[in-house]
Amino acid sequence: MKKSNWGELKDRAKLGYDNAYAPYSQFKVGAALQVGNGSVYHGCNVENASYGLTVCAERNAIAQAVIDGQQDITALVVYTEQDKLTPPCGACRQVIVEFMEQDATVKAVNHKGEEISWQVKDLLPNAFTPKDLK
Ligand code: THU
Repeated sequence: MKKSNWGELKDRAKLGYDNAYAPYSQFKVGAALQVGNGSVYHGCNVENASYGLTVCAERNAIAQAVIDGQQDITALVVYTEQDKLTPPCGACRQVIVEFMEQDATVKAVNHKGEEISWQVKDLLPNAFTPKDLK
């Protein structure tokens, strides 16, 4: 597994942020992730006039990796331009545990260079994961 390139992940999450489609909430979010071979993918939130169809930045970034055949996500960054750092929502946490190991790191960062890190196991304790289907 490659060392996490947090600098590149933050830059790519900002790139996602710049493309966010959030005309209803005005709450733009970007996300970027690294996979086992070192490749980085990014995503943004994409809202919809029917509100409930909104897809978060994290889940769109994860879909980008999966579409490209990459399912082993080793690090993930969420970028916003909020004074309060933005943690992944509950739905995204469930999707994160599908593709990330329990001890992998998720970071929230903002435009001021502030950041907070979590381990996946702390974002969704006692999660239902693919291992529970075995
Ligand atoms: N949002 C994300 O993209 N990721 C999160 O983890 C939190 C929420 C988006 C969804 C919606 O477009 C907007 O932020 C406000 O909830």
